[in-house]
Amino acid sequence: MDPFSRFRSKLPDVGVSIFSKMSALAQRYRAINLSQGFPDFECSPKLIGMVERYMRKGYNQYAPMAGVHRLRECIAEKMALGYRLTFDPNDEITITAGGTQALFTAIATVINPGDEVIIFEPAYDAYAPTVRLFGGTVRNLTLLAPSFEIDWLEVKRNVTERTKLIIINSPGNPSTKLFRKSDFDALSHLVEGTDIMVLSDEVYADMVYDGERFSSALQYPVLRERSFVVGSFGKLFHVTGWKVGYVVAPLWLTNAFRKVHQFNVFSVNTPIQHALADFLSDKSEYEQLAVFFQEKRDFLQSVLIGTKFCPLQCEGTYFQLVDYSALNAQGEMVFSERLTREFGLATIPVSAFYTNSMDQQLLRLCFAKSLKTLDAAAEKLRQIDAFYG
Ligand SMILES: Cc1ncc(COP(=O)(O)O)c(C=O)c1O
Repeated sequence: MDPFSRFRSKLPDVGVSIFSKMSALAQRYRAINLSQGFPDFECSPKLIGMVERYMRKGYNQYAPMAGVHRLRECIAEKMALGYRLTFDPNDEITITAGGTQALFTAIATVINPGDEVIIFEPAYDAYAPTVRLFGGTVRNLTLLAPSFEIDWLEVKRNVTERTKLIIINSPGNPSTKLFRKSDFDALSHLVEGTDIMVLSDEVYADMVYDGERFSSALQYPVLRERSFVVGSFGKLFHVTGWKVGYVVAPLWLTNAFRKVHQFNVFSVNTPIQHALADFLSDKSEYEQLAVFFQEKRDFLQSVLIGTKFCPLQCEGTYFQLVDYSALNAQGEMVFSERLTREFGLATIPVSAFYTNSMDQQLLRLCFAKSLKTLDAAAEKLRQIDAFYG
């Protein structure tokens, strides 16, 4: 008899993520990989030098549970510059092992069995499984291309006495949409006077284009008193493999967060935190990030405009959505697999970000790539266009 026959997975329907699947397919077919969201170029050698220096200087043991204090101070300074608000590094900022751990721990902190959580789809894949892991129920609200506009009356209709948390993501992966004042006002109005909390995933905050200004949930008083805001140094400094991020939340939520955090990871990589503090204290290291990525976006869009692929508006993040309906009638999954196998270009079908696999004939292309990779991708896109056109 199987001694483990009583074992049940807590997430029985979760399989390999679409990102791992498409990256594996890309490798197998030696495809240009615009699927998974990570840079294929190096981070700053200066940053690497700083990490090495701290390792050699002996900063190799546990960091404080809440994070290296100077890094928390530098985050507070960056936010003060960007939002003209003060944040207390002691009581409101915690360093995490990447944005994903911040999201996980925030959800673990507030969700009890029976609680409901509102999520907007298309959504980053970590939110819903984490909610379910802690006994919560997800209410998915579907946003549609090309605008991915939120109908706040519809959101209100989905709020019940069990609603505990609303998760937002601006700029959105994969929608690229920015939350605007009207969205934040509507959200503030909705939660004011309730005990509903907000988890605002802002890992792409510094990648906002065309002169638009990023707004944080923390700039809205009703939201600031009840929100976790998540950031990621992986995104900011092209070091997704280092897995260092942070969460900003009011004192009462930070206290509750840290109670879970200390038994989850306890503390985060010490020399990297010290190096990030040095690097972050020089704002020239990140203030050109949007210009840097906008050039890449513009290059990709200029290539797409010369084909039957139709680029959607890209307001932020390092993803470009394309509508291929003028080229081919196939579904997203079939088409994206075909592009990888037959043309050597790996992308992500946007249907993967919807629970109901909503198919809008859209693909997500990551442009956090070197010019060489983007040139090679441009060549592939023109070949695909010529084949189907
Ligand atoms: C919307 C969103 N949130 C969070 C993360 C995770 O950030 P990290 O790599 O720091 O865990 C990602 C990574 O792709 C993301 O796209």
